[in-house]
Formats: sequence, C-alpha cells, structure tokens
Amino acid sequence: MRRVVITGLGAITPLGVGVRSNWRRLLASDSGLVSIAERSSEEAGELSNLWKDLTSTVAGIVPTFKASNPRMTFSKNEIWQATDWMNATDRRRMSTFAQYAIAATEMALKDAGWKPSSEEKLDATGVCLGSGIGNLHDIYETSIEFEQGGYKKVSPLFVPKILINMAAGHIAMRYGFRGPNHAATTACTTGAHSIGDASRFIAFGDADVMVAGGAESCIHPLTFAGFGKSRSLSTAFNHDPPASGRPFDAERAGFVVSEGAAVLILEELEHAKARGAHIYAEVSGYGCSGDAHHMTAPKENGAGALAAMKRALKNAGIKPKEVDYINAHATGTKVGDAAEAAAIRSLMLGEDGVECESQVTVSSTKGAIGHLLGAAGAIESLYSILAIAENAVPPTLNLHKPDVGTQFNFVPHEAQEKRVNVAMSNSFGFGGTNASLVFSGLKK
Ligand SMILES: *[C@@H]1O[C@H](CO)[C@@H](O)[C@H](O)[C@H]1NC(C)=O
Ligand SMILES: *[C@@H]1O[C@H](CO)[C@@H](O)[C@H](O)[C@H]1NC(C)=O
Repeated sequence: MRRVVITGLGAITPLGVGVRSNWRRLLASDSGLVSIAERSSEEAGELSNLWKDLTSTVAGIVPTFKASNPRMTFSKNEIWQATDWMNATDRRRMSTFAQYAIAATEMALKDAGWKPSSEEKLDATGVCLGSGIGNLHDIYETSIEFEQGGYKKVSPLFVPKILINMAAGHIAMRYGFRGPNHAATTACTTGAHSIGDASRFIAFGDADVMVAGGAESCIHPLTFAGFGKSRSLSTAFNHDPPASGRPFDAERAGFVVSEGAAVLILEELEHAKARGAHIYAEVSGYGCSGDAHHMTAPKENGAGALAAMKRALKNAGIKPKEVDYINAHATGTKVGDAAEAAAIRSLMLGEDGVECESQVTVSSTKGAIGHLLGAAGAIESLYSILAIAENAVPPTLNLHKPDVGTQFNFVPHEAQEKRVNVAMSNSFGFGGTNASLVFSGLKK
C-alpha cells in the first residue's frame, strides 16, 4: 500500500491567521473565545437584536481587527482580511467558509512548496475539503429577500455560494488541480473524514498529492438558536467567555460555536521524498464507525467512538500502548465527553494497552478555540501533527475538576513537553458518525 505523509499546513482559527501564531498561542494557553453579544451591536448590524434572546452568546471568532479579542493583540498578518488572499471578483463569488478554505490552502501549499504547472502533476493533485453547515448567512438573507421581493431578489450567485463542495471547487479552479475533487459533509466529523478519505485517494493511486481539510463559518444568530434548542451549547459562562470552553470539567455544560479552517497537504511518501519536501508526519491510520443509536446523543459507553479508534489503530498496525497523545473530540457536553473518556479508557487499558490511567495523555483543544464544527477534525489533526513535530502537548483549558470517571493526564491548563511519536485525533458528529485518525513520526 502506498504510504501517505503530511508536507504542508495552513490554519485560520480564533487564535489567529497562520499556523505558527496558532501553535504559539495554543501552547501559551490563550483562549480564542469572546462575547458575541458585546460585539453584535457594532458588527452584526441589523441582526444585533436577534442575539439578545439567545442562551449562549460566546463564540470563537476569527480575528478581523487588532483588538478583536480583548485579551490579545493580533499583529497585522494574524488578522483575517479577505483582501490579503483574493481579488474583488473572488470575494463576491465565495462565501466566507470558502474564502477561509482558499486562504488556508494557499498557506499550506506554500508551506509544502507545491506549485505544480505540468499537466501530469496537475492531474495528480486533488482536493478533499468539506464543511459542516456552510453558508447559513446567505440562505437566511436570501430566504427573507425572496419572501419579500420574489424572483427578482435572488442572486445568480445564491446556489454556487451555498453548495458545500464549492470550496473544494474553487481551490481546484484557482490552482488547476484536476485530481479527485471531493467534499465530505458529516457534521463535526467532516474535517476528519476529509483527511482520511484524501489519504485513501493517495493510497489507492488516484492522486499523488491532496489538499485536505475543513472550513466553517456560521457565526449567525440562527446557528446559536438551533444548537441552543438542541441544548448543546455552553450557557453558564456568557459573562466570562474564556471560561466557557471546559472539556472534561465538572462544570462543563455544552460547547462553544467557532469558525475557521485548516488544510493539510497530503502526499505519497516517495513523491515527497523525491522532491525533498519537509515531512511533518505520516497518516498511518484511519477508522470510521456509526453508532446506529440517536440523532445527537452518543451511546453512554462510547461504543461508536471505541470502534472508530480500534479500526484506526488496526489500520495503522499500531498498539494502543504506543499512542503517546490523544486529541479528544470532547466538546464540553456532559454526555459526550464522558462517553469519549469511557471509550478511551476501554481502548487504552484493554489488550495491548498501558498499565495505568495516568499513562494516558489526552487533551481537548476545544477549551481554547471552541468547536469549529466541520473544520474541527482538520484543525485538531493539524495540532496533533504539530505535537509530533515539536514534542509538545497542547493543554485542556479550564479543567479544574475532571468528572468523567478517569485519572488520565488531561494536560490541564498548561502545555506539556512530551515525546510524541504517535498521536490520535478523534471526531464525532451528529447522526452518530465517528472517525479517528492516527498520525506518527516518520521512522528515519
Ligand atoms: C481574480 O482572481 C482570479 C484567480 O482566482 C482570476 O481568475 C480572475 O481573473 C481575477 N479577476 C480579476 C478581475 O482580476
Ligand atoms: C459518535 O459521534 C456523535 C457525536 O457525539 C454521537 O452522536 C455518536 O453517538 C458518537 N459516539 C460516541 C461518542 O460514542
């Protein structure tokens, strides 16, 4: 089987634009969560009244100006400005999640040093990038305009701007990539499925290089109303936004909606070696499963999560005890975090596992950046890869009192130096879809 490695990274998150700034702030325990209620009057314009009744008013927002986050100062190149990345035509044609995807791709391709021009190489380069929700903003606005003004009010760009796969399409058009062009949309598992599926395209010989990841931008009152009604959101810390992301903590009560994008450049191992590319890590395993249980709640014992992790390790040919770090899906919901911890416990203390719970290192970076939904699996994979490349484990913020029935090393509050050769990233989505990815350092 052809082996797949990672040769480029790109990221846009509430911790800023760029991979380095993300990693630096993440290890420094910075929080990207802010109050959307405070911002709404100036920035949300006519929608500001709609934020008022919402149960959760915290969010992870990509910084758009220096003081976007009251606790940080962003430098100019850490701030999102669409004009830095595309011209006016493209800005009009692309919804925000697609714009983020384009920018993260540009960063990742540059990092990988992959700018093919020959027909053969363009044919062998593909894109696999999805979104969970996509462009809710235009669906909402257009619905209102259509209701009030009829046919003449609907933009010819409406359909291209709401299709989830259009981000992948725009990336292909911009660079001329004619390999497989695909977009997963599996709620919060989107990013993980995109990376896993892309790695299969390379392994099976459909492509030599794949742009893979996820993008999301649905900071809109309707999103918060919807997730609010499904009782998924953090509501107890609206007054203290950084405290609202608290995976595994006794006071957790829901997740924080965030936006952003992350892109990995996946490449066939020999292809990467032949061109002397820098290799971050290998995609060594991918496993998927379904719970066949409930629309939004996991099985309490985390059976679906366990199956996904087991399949990913089997695929990788790696034993549980060899896993040095798990980047948990843990979003901060009562049931979800506990189910995942139970699943990790069964996996890591079972056959070929470790001897005691304290040897299991697990953190959830959602404490710092919130839940990027369709981009979550992609950014969390990126962080897992950096954990391998830099031998550092990012922290779980706000974890004062774990109450998920385990004594794992949850990396509370502060990052840890640790030799990481194998990292696993979990993603679970509404509908009961679960995926795990295993990354490992390349053996010399
Ligand atoms: C805008 O950029 C795109 C490349 O993404 C290019 O095809 C197009 O011609 C540019 N449009 C203008 C008006 O410069
Ligand atoms: C798999 O993902 C989703 C989201 O948490 C959930 O509905 C499903 O049941 C998960 N399984 C777990 C966590 O065991």
